[in-house]
Formats: sequence, structure tokens, C-alpha cells
Amino acid sequence: MQTTVMGRVVGYDERGQGLPLVFIHGYPLNRMIWEAQWENLSDIAHVIAPDLRGFGQSEMIDGKTEISTYADDVREFLRALGIDGRAVIAGLSMGGYVALSYLRRYPENVAGLILSNTKATPDSIEGRAGRDKNIALAKEKGVAAIVDAMLPKVLSPNTFASKDELVKQVREIMMSSTVPGIVGALEAMRDRPDSTGTLLEFSAPTLIIAGADDQLMPMAEQDTMKQAARNSTLVVVEKAGHLTPMEQPEEFNHAVREFLRTIQT
Ligand code: MLT
Repeated sequence: MQTTVMGRVVGYDERGQGLPLVFIHGYPLNRMIWEAQWENLSDIAHVIAPDLRGFGQSEMIDGKTEISTYADDVREFLRALGIDGRAVIAGLSMGGYVALSYLRRYPENVAGLILSNTKATPDSIEGRAGRDKNIALAKEKGVAAIVDAMLPKVLSPNTFASKDELVKQVREIMMSSTVPGIVGALEAMRDRPDSTGTLLEFSAPTLIIAGADDQLMPMAEQDTMKQAARNSTLVVVEKAGHLTPMEQPEEFNHAVREFLRTIQT
């Protein structure tokens, strides 16, 4: 589906009714990573998954993209759908950075937080330099160069060995990214602030989901978020890499179902 929000086309899917449960994808991905969530969780929530600007079916806008730009986009998009109250905000990896920015900007609109395969800390100096290298790589060699470097890191060895279709699907999702979308996301991630303080101030339920084989998000980062968010639960999913909701959808959805029971509406 597509809609136009403040003059910009936004791709999204939505299913179900009741408590809004908003899924924000990571980089360089799009809303299709949440297919197993909107297919299987719509009996208990109003599941909504937008594409961030420059990814999937969402239009890119010229100019600098910040993590807060995506958070504001999500807010405007939800308003356009008629959702002005509280929602559970879920984000994977870069989507988690966006969810934390959303929490910082719109705390009164967050009923609960799901942080999947992500972290609250900002990029290190080396990490920032890596973003600049990838910006140059994307501009020079295109999307495929980014995807080739990234694909082996996002899935667990178990997924690579046993789920050919899924590996193909992830590659296709990544390949549908655009260079401007990728560059915008790399700049936004490079310059994002530390969100640990935001979590320290948050008292509503928080679910942290980690992949036991995630090569991109160290377990120490999960513990840091767990300690910062006082009302949080950490679920570590076995045989999952960086894309837990796709690699182990049943375990992921089970954790979300249990979590939603704790949300006061
Ligand atoms: C993502 O999956 O969104 C990115 O790998 C996050 C990052 O590079 O920091």
C-alpha cells in the first residue's frame, strides 16, 4: 500500500485492529522484513509497518537525513493514518535507533518499546569512519557493493546453511534499496546521538530481543539497554543472527505476544 504524507509518498502495510504496533525496519532493508509479524500478530494488535524514506516504496527527499528525520516521518505517517494516541514502537537495528529517537521526541505517544537487534550507544570514531567509507562505496560502486559486503554479516550460520529462500529474499530486499536512501541512512546513523539517557528516563515496558548469533550487535550492548530501561525484559533468540524477526519468526512473535500482555492501554 502507499499513501501521501506531507506531499511525500510512503509505502506501508497494516493489518488488524486495536493497539497500534509499529514496526520500523533496519538498513539497508524495507518493511518486507516484518511480513511474518503483520501476518501473525494482527489478531492482537493493529500492526503497521512503514518504509523509511528512500527505502521500499517510500520516496526520498533531498537534503540531510537525521535519525530524528525518520522519527518525525513515522509520527506524521501515523497521524495521517488517524493514530494520534499511544502506540507500541518496535525497531530493528537502525529501526531501533529511530524508535529511540521517536521516544525522545514523542514520549507521550509511546505505550511500550521493542528494541530488536539494536543498541542505544552512538557510533565510535572507527564506526563513523566506516560510514564515510560506505558512503563513498555506495556512490562509486552502487547498491550491489553495499549488499555484497553486508549480506554475510546479517544472517546466522544456521540461516545460511538451512534457509536458501530466506537468504535470497533478504538479498532481494537489500538490492531494492537506492543509493540516495543508503547514503541518507549512513549519514543519519553516523551522526546519531547516544540514546542511553533516553532509556534511563523511560518507565513503560520495554522488550529487548537479541539474536544469539548477531555479528553486528554485541551482547554487551543488549545488557547496557537492559540495565538502562528499568522496566525491561531481554529475550535472546537462539539460531538467529541480525534479522531475528525473519530468521526465527515464531520465537520473535511469541516474545512480542507475551510482551503485549504487559502493556496498559
Ligand atoms: C542495520 O541493520 O540497521 C544496521 O546494520 C545498523 C548499523 O549499521 O548500525
